Amino acid sequence: MTKVSPSILAADFANLGADIQKVQKAAMLHVDIMDGHFVPNISIGVPVVESVRRCTDMFLDVHLMISKPQQYIDIFCDAGADLICFHLEAEGEPETTIRMIREKGKKAAVSIKPGTPVEAVFPYVKDLDMVLVMTVEPGFGGQKFMPEMLEKVKALRAYAQSENPSLDIEVDGGVNRETAKAAVSAGVSVLVAGSCIFGAENPEEMVDYFSSL
Ligand code: DX5
Ligand code: ZN
Repeated sequence: MTKVSPSILAADFANLGADIQKVQKAAMLHVDIMDGHFVPNISIGVPVVESVRRCTDMFLDVHLMISKPQQYIDIFCDAGADLICFHLEAEGEPETTIRMIREKGKKAAVSIKPGTPVEAVFPYVKDLDMVLVMTVEPGFGGQKFMPEMLEKVKALRAYAQSENPSLDIEVDGGVNRETAKAAVSAGVSVLVAGSCIFGAENPEEMVDYFSSL
């Protein structure tokens, strides 16, 4: 069984509650926060996370694509995040950011962009619940999966075997029926999918498919 985290970036924000209903069987719900600075796009912020929290009991996987994550840890945790994922390339000492997330009683994850070597995340693996290996440049949905990122997943899975065997490894970007299979074979345990789920005729069936891998 693979965990699925549908990305609401691809949902209809005018009908967000109804779209979330369609994927409620998924293990998590992926919420992309973009500040127009760390990435060249702006998505959603705190009020939307609060509204989502009120409309579902799903586990909220909050992906912060923002330059100053430490300024917003408390705010997004209080808004309803269950897990906070920040970027290793963002400002602030990662140890401190992880500690701030722990102090709020939430799960902690670090993400790396395609240009960042996977070894950069190794020092934090034992203190994390999850590592997100980006399979596109962060910022936009609907991009093409970068298969070479799966080498990073394999290296991370091997490293985590001794350091943190229960570590979740998530991929985000360009996940579809084919790339999902390759990702799971490489050691991925959490699949983020936006356009492939919310653009599907039957989002529920897509969630079932990814979960079955
Ligand atoms: C991209 C975001 C993704 C995005 C994925 O920066 O982090 O979560 O929604 O979209 P798809 O699945 O359409 O590539
Ligand atoms: Zn994301």
